[in-house]
Amino acid sequence: MTEPTAPDKKPFLYVVVCASGVAGGVGKLITAAQEANWDVGVVATPQGLGFIDARAVEAQTGYPIRSAWRSPGDPRPLPPADAIAVAPATFNTINKWAAGISDTLALGILCEAYGMGIPTVALPYLNSAQAAHPAYRQSLDRLRGMGVLIGSGEPHRPKAGGAAERFRWEEALELLGPLVGRGR
Ligand SMILES: Cc1cc2nc3c(=O)[nH]c(=O)nc-3n(C[C@H](O)[C@H](O)[C@H](O)COP(=O)(O)O)c2cc1C
Repeated sequence: MTEPTAPDKKPFLYVVVCASGVAGGVGKLITAAQEANWDVGVVATPQGLGFIDARAVEAQTGYPIRSAWRSPGDPRPLPPADAIAVAPATFNTINKWAAGISDTLALGILCEAYGMGIPTVALPYLNSAQAAHPAYRQSLDRLRGMGVLIGSGEPHRPKAGGAAERFRWEEALELLGPLVGRGR
């Protein structure tokens, strides 16, 4: 017998939040995604947790923020992801993800997402001194080769207070659109 499908079940978006100065604005992406008919769960890196208002994020999404691996036997706190947006994506997480390092839950999810064919986009936010490191371009090339779509934001000047007001959270949804059959 065929399983009945739930017609009102929304696709589930993981927003992976790294430890960047703009991370506190993640509520903007959550709002935009919910308005675009996604259910949203947030996965923060352990360092990223310190940059967000966890209670506000959990109230907005209705799900606990995931940051550490669950214990064996514990239920999965989030449904499986239909798509993933890494926003903001730090220099550190981009390089480790591309290298296949899995020492945070966020990286574990990202490293497996490739093999599972989950559409994934990333919005890097870093300064030009970080971006000048040769590993960074190689990491972006490798991620692009894995099918990850990378945001268009340019690195900002170091020690200049960042460019948070120019960080386009909504670009994550624009990039995901064609990947998930929601082209505009
Ligand atoms: C106030 C503050 C702001 C930071 N902003 C950024 C940033 O915008 N981009 C970045 O790549 N690293 C930034 N860092 C450095 C990262 O937090 C650091 O590399 C950290 O290890 C990243 O961890 P994660 O990639 O696991 O989230 C910042 C650090 C601090 C203290």
